Amino acid sequence: MTRVTHTIDELRSICDGFRANGHRVGLVPTMGALHPGHLSLVDAVRRTGAARVVVTIFVNPTQFGPGEDYDRYPRTLEQDLEKCRDQEVDLVYAPARDEVYPTRFQTHVEVEELTREHEGRFRSSHFRGVTTIVAKLFNAVGPCVAAFGRKDYQQWRVLERMTADLDMPVQVVGCPIVRENDGIAMSSRNRYLDAAGRERARAIIAGLRAANAAFIAGERGADRLERLARGPIESALDKIDYVVVADPVTLVRADDRCGERAVILVAAHLGTTRLIDNAVLGEDDLG
Ligand code: PAF
Repeated sequence: MTRVTHTIDELRSICDGFRANGHRVGLVPTMGALHPGHLSLVDAVRRTGAARVVVTIFVNPTQFGPGEDYDRYPRTLEQDLEKCRDQEVDLVYAPARDEVYPTRFQTHVEVEELTREHEGRFRSSHFRGVTTIVAKLFNAVGPCVAAFGRKDYQQWRVLERMTADLDMPVQVVGCPIVRENDGIAMSSRNRYLDAAGRERARAIIAGLRAANAAFIAGERGADRLERLARGPIESALDKIDYVVVADPVTLVRADDRCGERAVILVAAHLGTTRLIDNAVLGEDDLG
């Protein structure tokens, strides 16, 4: 049975009950508009041995900047609950904004270096919003394990850092990107795209595949790999925020030649929709 709560007190007391009965609790934080990528996170926490799974659904205002898509972000609670029931999720927490951020809220969690580049350069307070909400959810749920999609690659690394730095007793699992048949990374924001937009969005995976093929063939020049990925993206999308080859753990941009392990990170705009994607070169399955 999937229970649903909207209050932090009830969330805490149900999770206390799970633990009192000896169950490991797994957490899947989401902003809703659930798709198979989110559902793969539920499977991932179960695979680590979590006997009880909590999914949270909250469009977190503090991670959106002015002019971003907070107001139009898809809110599909009834369909999301149906998916959680099908997946036999034990508890869904879907709070209202005031439950999470009451009047006089003024405390934030901030990871420093790792948040400065890439997404951080274009979305200045984004990660502060993410780390704050995730820290709050960790405190309320008390999970042993929490899963995040690697589509938000930098977010995953930032949350790993936060957890380690603050000695939070939570295993952070980064799960592979789930892609549509045409290679587009699944994202709640794909709902903003019409058929023509989707077709153009495929240029991102084309760019990633081009860089990946070159890396596999032995190319280690970071500029060259970035240029190969940029090519198709530049021709099909409206604006590129970044295409960067970086160290997959520190996320420091490769100066000249990248190492034997490298991630390529992309953010680009298609009309009013901003899309991100990435690949660990030579390792991720890009279809
Ligand atoms: O990845 C997301 O959906 C969000 O950033 C998260 C982790 C649920 C925090 O609001």
